[in-house]
Amino acid sequence: MSETEVTTAPRPLLLADGRPAARAWSLDPALRHLNHGSFGAVPLVAQERQQELRARMEGAPVAWFPGLPERIAAARVELAAFLGADPGDLALVPNASAGASVVYAGLPHRGGGEIVVTDHGYGAVTMGAERLARRWGGRVRTARVPLDAGEEQAYEAVMAEVGGATGLLVVDQITSATARRLPVERIGAEARRRGVPLLVDGAHAPGLIDAPLSGTACDFWTGNLHKWGCAPRGTAALVARGPLRDGLYPLIDSWGAADPYPDRFDQQGTLDATPWLAAATALGFVEATWGWAAARRYMDELAGYGARVVGAALAELTGADASVDVGMPVPGMRLVRLPDGLGGSRLAADALRDRATAELGVEAAFTSFGGTGYLRLSAHVYNTAEDYEYVAEKCVPVLGEWARAAR
Ligand SMILES: Cc1ncc(COP(=O)(O)O)c(C=O)c1O
Repeated sequence: MSETEVTTAPRPLLLADGRPAARAWSLDPALRHLNHGSFGAVPLVAQERQQELRARMEGAPVAWFPGLPERIAAARVELAAFLGADPGDLALVPNASAGASVVYAGLPHRGGGEIVVTDHGYGAVTMGAERLARRWGGRVRTARVPLDAGEEQAYEAVMAEVGGATGLLVVDQITSATARRLPVERIGAEARRRGVPLLVDGAHAPGLIDAPLSGTACDFWTGNLHKWGCAPRGTAALVARGPLRDGLYPLIDSWGAADPYPDRFDQQGTLDATPWLAAATALGFVEATWGWAAARRYMDELAGYGARVVGAALAELTGADASVDVGMPVPGMRLVRLPDGLGGSRLAADALRDRATAELGVEAAFTSFGGTGYLRLSAHVYNTAEDYEYVAEKCVPVLGEWARAAR
């Protein structure tokens, strides 16, 4: 790694009026927010838009709710354009977990059917696959994909688990614990050729990948607009394309049940749909202020810078290389290896996250993969180089103390 690579930081992004980008959010300035990936962060304009919609709902509920399905259908058109999807394929759901649950609940029974997942899968989504496999009287097969596997190796590892008994394949477009992509385009093409249904978990993809649905052949895709898209929380999409989609219903039985997919998802009982209606305001704000392409470039450069400065501080502390060779990396997120003794399991990593917030004033994601602990750094438009320099200078020495105490 060259000295310039360590020291070159992208210039902070500014708002149209010259103020720092972070002023468009309501994030607590007393904390460093380096974990956009987990729960997102909503810009003030989208919060205000949602508040306006809520005020209308609260002002005249009886006028609001009967007209809601039509408004949701219109919101789907805007959100589908951002995702590179056909609005006729897209249903709105509260989160990616719900999108996966809808698919698990709606697939036809397949006695003895197997479900192929990967060891990078999101735990909660994988647990849902395990439950479905139990209902089928089958089992889950886990493809092991090395962290540094490139496209070919990752593809081979996944397809090696697919066979005649496979009733469903579940693959992340962007993984949570390891912040990498998996080759869903190639896997999708081959799964289609073999007639195996594929669910792509694209929870992190909207906003991080341009038009994440274009070029991905899959029966089912789900992704959160409330992560990188900055939409109000509770906004996610489910995209379904083949004949199996006729079996998909919202998790809440409601009056749209007799309607075709995806229209039947526009009615889900008495539900606060204001996040869905305000989502396009968040997407439009980033587009109008910086453009998503430039925002993504910034996020990627900044995440790379952050990983280099934090990685260099960790290396100085432990004497070991903290950089992580991730095959198919994503823009906006990077891993650095934690000192031995920290974050070796998911529970240990979660405890570290809570301790870092309470004692270091840093909201960060600590993850665990294959028994190794990682700090997953996120970078969004409101982050600046100084956030990561703070972690390198102030937090890394404390992490070193925590690691010594843990050994
Ligand atoms: C890959 C992946 N899948 C699913 C989810 C679940 O998202 P949600 O909690 O919004 O349902 C996440 C959340 O981080 C994720 O990273």
